[in-house]
Amino acid sequence: MPARIIGTGSSLPSLVVSNTELEKIMDTSDEWIKSRTGIGERHIAVEETTTSMAVEASERAMQSAKIEAEEIDLIIVGTVSGDMCFPSTACQVQSRIGAVNATAFDINAACAGFLFGLSIADAYIKAGMAKTALIIGAETLSKMMDWNDRSTCILFGDGAGAAIVKGDEHGIMSIVQGTDGARGEVLTCHNRAVNNPFVKGSMELDYTSMNGQEVYKFAVKTVPVAIRQALDAAGVQVDEIKYFLLHQANIRIIEAVARKMGQPIEKFPTNLQKCGNISAGSVPILLDSVNEQGVLKRGDKIVLAGFGAGLSWGASVLTW
Ligand code: COA
Repeated sequence: MPARIIGTGSSLPSLVVSNTELEKIMDTSDEWIKSRTGIGERHIAVEETTTSMAVEASERAMQSAKIEAEEIDLIIVGTVSGDMCFPSTACQVQSRIGAVNATAFDINAACAGFLFGLSIADAYIKAGMAKTALIIGAETLSKMMDWNDRSTCILFGDGAGAAIVKGDEHGIMSIVQGTDGARGEVLTCHNRAVNNPFVKGSMELDYTSMNGQEVYKFAVKTVPVAIRQALDAAGVQVDEIKYFLLHQANIRIIEAVARKMGQPIEKFPTNLQKCGNISAGSVPILLDSVNEQGVLKRGDKIVLAGFGAGLSWGASVLTW
């Protein structure tokens, strides 16, 4: 029995920072950012943390799914920006929402984190190892940025999205995943500085660094292929898909994927204009806003796709 999404939730920090506000602190312009990326503003965490946003998104997803925390037996958080190395964000969420019967762990698949989490939950449910799973994508990317590097810091934002899945007759029809570690150096963020007397020299604390053009080429080439593979595996024609919910990295990437799939751009809802790129949070936050609008009807077929650092990617065809 596949996993079916039965509820969604999301949480965004209260501070909204527009491109115009960024113009005041760095050499950039609203025109440059909008024309290159489509992004107009992003939410930046000040009081909020990765865990607090993950908790709020989870509570909203539980309300939407009409389930109690005790029913959840699996919690997976996709994140590259947890507040602590350990305990995991998932364990902190478990404690804060009172999901006493769950097993909880984090995964690092960057912007594909929610898709990878969905895939693990689907496999657990099919294997009979879990009945009700909570999958979260949560990020505070603002703390991973070098705010002196205008080519990266303008792209990203903070937030969390969550979904509850349960075994059902209809649900996830297919998931394809892939990684290419050999090309990983085009989007990196090093770990913490080393303070170890046995290591010669100390490792400098590092921030996100990106070869934007290589990441762009990777995305426009790989995502349509992954979506086609997922459609084939599900036995679904591309025209049957109501919505394609893609990772919100760049409007030009989304337009290129729409063109390559021969699909109208109206089938590709976006929130990057208001949220920027929230890595693992992007897909579940977008899914929640589409769900909130009430436009998803039982039986609709949709595609979810995430891609990013690793390099990693995932695409899924599912029945709502
Ligand atoms: N404001 C103004 N100018 C900027 C700028 C900013 N925020 N950031 C870079 N520039 C400048 C560069 O310095 C460069 O100037 P130069 O020509 O004088 O050297 C110029 O703009 C062009 O830079 P370039 O990097 O070639 O721009 P681009 O057209 O490739 O766009 C990205 C840059 C990052 C928007 C684009 O490559 C991209 O979106 N890539 C994908 C990134 C992505 O989605 N990453 C996340 C994946 S999960």
